[in-house]
Amino acid sequence: MTTVTLPIDPLVHAAWLPAAAFSAVGSRRIAVVLEDDLSFDGLADPAFSPVAPTIMAEVEAATAAHGGALVDEAEADVLLAIELDCCEENPEAFCFSRTDGLVRIVASNPRGLLYGWFHLARLGKDAFTGPDVENECHTPHTALRMLDHWDNMDVHPVMGHVERGYSGGSIFFDHGVVREDLTRVAQYARLLASVGINRVAINNVNVGRLEMRLLDDLLPEVARIADVFRPYGVTTHLSVSWASPVRLGGLADSDPFNPDVLAWWQAAANRVWAAIPDFGGFVIKADSEGQPGPFAYGRTHADGANMLAKAVEPHGGLIHWRAFVYNHTQDWRDRKTDRAKAAYEHFAPYDGTFAENVIVQIKHGPLDFQVREPASPTIAALPQTSVAAEFQVTTEYLGHQKHAVYLGRMWSQLMQFPYWGEGSPTMADIVAGGHPLGDGTRIGGFVAVSNVGDDVFWTGHPFAQANLYAWGRLTWDPQADPDIILSDWALATFPEVSSEGAAALDAILGKSWETYEMYTAPLGVCFMVYPHHHYGPNPDGYEYTPWGTYHFADRISIGVDRTRATGTGYTDQYPKPWRDVYENLATCPDELLLFFHHVPYTHVLKSGKTMIQHVYDTHFEGLERVKVAVAAWQGVRDEFPADVAARIDERFAEQVRSATDWRDIINTYFYRHSGIPDAHGRPIY
Ligand code: GCU
Repeated sequence: MTTVTLPIDPLVHAAWLPAAAFSAVGSRRIAVVLEDDLSFDGLADPAFSPVAPTIMAEVEAATAAHGGALVDEAEADVLLAIELDCCEENPEAFCFSRTDGLVRIVASNPRGLLYGWFHLARLGKDAFTGPDVENECHTPHTALRMLDHWDNMDVHPVMGHVERGYSGGSIFFDHGVVREDLTRVAQYARLLASVGINRVAINNVNVGRLEMRLLDDLLPEVARIADVFRPYGVTTHLSVSWASPVRLGGLADSDPFNPDVLAWWQAAANRVWAAIPDFGGFVIKADSEGQPGPFAYGRTHADGANMLAKAVEPHGGLIHWRAFVYNHTQDWRDRKTDRAKAAYEHFAPYDGTFAENVIVQIKHGPLDFQVREPASPTIAALPQTSVAAEFQVTTEYLGHQKHAVYLGRMWSQLMQFPYWGEGSPTMADIVAGGHPLGDGTRIGGFVAVSNVGDDVFWTGHPFAQANLYAWGRLTWDPQADPDIILSDWALATFPEVSSEGAAALDAILGKSWETYEMYTAPLGVCFMVYPHHHYGPNPDGYEYTPWGTYHFADRISIGVDRTRATGTGYTDQYPKPWRDVYENLATCPDELLLFFHHVPYTHVLKSGKTMIQHVYDTHFEGLERVKVAVAAWQGVRDEFPADVAARIDERFAEQVRSATDWRDIINTYFYRHSGIPDAHGRPIY
C-alpha cells in the first residue's frame, strides 16, 4: 500500500487542520472497506485511485496520534466504505449514517470518501452522539469549486510576486522557478480538500513571458505541482496568454481562424495532457485590461474561446474564458458609456454559440469586487452557456488582509440572489446548470482568487483564513449558514481556545463585512480608493481616470444614474423584477442607491435619514464598531498562541488607523461637497 506523509510544519500553523482536530475520530477503531473486487493497490482507473492512499494515510496518522486503530469491519466503530453504486455515483458525494453506535461514511469513489473523512473530523465528538441517522447524503452543489492564484513566477516590478496578494510570496514559485520544496503546496492541497475545493489555477491571469513557458519547457514543473495536488482530489489548471502562439511559438499571429494557431494550441494541449493526464484546462483573460485577444483579428470572444475549446476537447479539458472585458481607456467626460454594462454587451449576444467545454467566468458584480455591488446580470443572461461566478477571497478592495473582514455573509447573499425575484433560481442555481431557460446540461461553478501566500499564517491576517475556509464550504453548499461556518472555522482553527474566546471571534468577525462597508465607500458608490494599489480612502482617486469607475460628485448630488429613463440604461440588463426594482428610486434598496442613482445629498433614505446624514452616521459608527472588536479581542488575546496574537494586535492597530482615515476623509469629502454639517456636530474637517 502506498502512503503519503502529512507534514505539519510548525511554522505554518493556526490553519484549521491541526492534528487535534482529529482527536474524536482518531481515537476510534476504524475500518476502511472496499467492494469485493476492488483493492487500494489495484485500483486501475487513474481518476479513481490517487486519493485512495491519502485516505489510508489520513486514517493511519489520526489513529496513531489519538490512540485509535485500523481494524477489520466486524470490530469497527467507524466504517469508511466504497460502494460503487452509492450517492447516485457522484464521485464527490458521500453519505453519513449513525446506527447502533456505528458511524458509517459511504461513497462511490475515494474522493467522496476523503470529503466524508474531513466531514467526520469537523463533527468531532458530535459525530458519535445523538439519535440514529440513516444515509444523510452530502453532495456538492456545483461541479467546479475552484481557486485561481494570481501568482507570478518572478517578482513583478509593479505587482510583486502575487498580484493582489497580501500574504507574502507565492507558495508555488520562488524568484523565477517552481519551488523545489512543495511541502506547503501539499499542506494547502489538504486544507483545500478538507473544505471541498477541487480545482486550482496556479498562475496569474495576466500571463508574462516566463509564465508562458509553463506550457512548454517548464511543463515538467507544472507536473510536479499537479502530482502534489492530485492525492487530495485537486485538479491543476494553468492561465494562458492569447499571444502564446506568437510569443512562444513564433507564429505570425494568433488569429483564431488561422489553422496554424489551432494546430499550435492542439500541440500544446497534447504536450500538457501527456505530462499531466488529469490536467483541468486553461483559464484565459483576453482583450481585457491590455491583455491580447481575438479582437485584434476582428473575431469575437466566442470565436476565441471555441478555438481553444477545440484544442483541449479531445483531452476532456475546460476553457475558463473570463468575461472581465471593458474599455479601460474611457473618457471620464463621457457619461453615457458605462463600464458596468460591458460584460453583458460582450457576452450575452453570443449565448448558445460557446462550445460545451467553455465556461464563461463572470465576476459576481458588474464592476470589480467592490464591497457592495449588485449581482451581475450577465450571470443570468447566458442560459445556453456554462458559467462560473468569480469572487475574490483575497481582499483587494476590502482591506488587504490588514483589516479583519469575514466575507462569508457577503458571498452567501450573492450566491443566493434570486434573479427572477423571491423564490426564483439563484446565482448558485444558475452556475450549477439550473438556468430556467437552459437545457440542464450545463456544468459550471464558483471560482475565486486565492488569498494564500508563503506567510507563516498563510493569509497575512490569521483571521483571513476564515475566508478561505468559508469559500470552500459555501461553494460546496451555498445555502449553508455563513455564521455557523465561521464558528466551525474558529473551533477547528483554535481548538485550545475557550468557548468565550471562540464566541469573541464570532463577535469580532461575524458582521465585519457590514462594518467595513460602514467606514468605507457608502451605499454602493464604489471605488473611493487609491488608484492602483486599492488600499485606503481617496474619494476622487478614480474620478478623472480612464478606468470607467466614477461617482460624479458635485456640490448637490452624487452617484451614477444607471436607469433606462435618464441614465446609462444598465438596469435594462436585469430580468424582472430587478430591472424595475433598481430603476425606481422608491424601490431601489438603500445599500445600492448610489450604484443605480444620482441623487442629492438631501435625498431621504428608507430609514428616514437623509443620505448625507447616513454617510456621517455610518462612518462614525463603523470606526466605533472596529474599536469594540479590538476591545473584544484584547479580552481574549492571551488564550491564543503568542505569535498569532502578536500578528493580530499589529493588524488591528493598522485597521484602527486606516478606518479612522476612512471615516474622516469620506466625511470631510461629503461635507466639503455638500456644505451640509453633521446633525450631531461631530468633528468633520
Ligand atoms: C482587477 C485587479 C487586477 C486584475 C483584474 C482582473 O482589476 O485590480 O489586478 O488583473 O482585476 O480580474 O483581471
